[in-house]
Amino acid sequence: MRRAIYPGSFDPVTNGHLDIIERSCKLFDEIVVAVLDNPDKNPLFSVPERCAMISEVLPLVKHHGCNLVVEDFAGLTVDFAVKKQAIAIVRGIRAISDYEYELQMASMNRRLGPEQETVFLMAAEKYSFVSSKLVKQVFALGGAVGGLVPASVEEKLKEKLH
Ligand code: PNS
Repeated sequence: MRRAIYPGSFDPVTNGHLDIIERSCKLFDEIVVAVLDNPDKNPLFSVPERCAMISEVLPLVKHHGCNLVVEDFAGLTVDFAVKKQAIAIVRGIRAISDYEYELQMASMNRRLGPEQETVFLMAAEKYSFVSSKLVKQVFALGGAVGGLVPASVEEKLKEKLH
């Protein structure tokens, strides 16, 4: 059983996240989508809301037989990875600008948990500019986010922001 965790804020989940999950499915037997419970980040959606949104859209992912699970966690990502007996931490890279921060996190995570490898996957070019933060900002200002997030997430944004 080769299990990986895919940690993030997912506030909310975007099509870019789903693209990374789909790619990870080709590499692992199980992916635990790990939703960070961190009130300091002042999230738009609560942890249960974020988990529910992800669970609702995971059936859209071509999972290639990989088992997909959603769980929330607090504290260190590495501790959660160890708890789940995961061999890897998956992170998506969109552009070179992501690399510096991701390298810093991966290096710290390697120091904290040398057994867990960080696996970077490149998002599809069409999602290279998509982030939860920009999606929220654009949507709040009346811009179109169709194609950037699943339709059900767009509905939830509507309920929350309009
Ligand atoms: O989707 P995000 O917000 O870019 O995800 C960032 C996340 C959740 C992966 C990162 O903030 C994290 O791992 N937080 C948990 C605390 C932790 O482990 N910190 C040390 C890693 S350097």
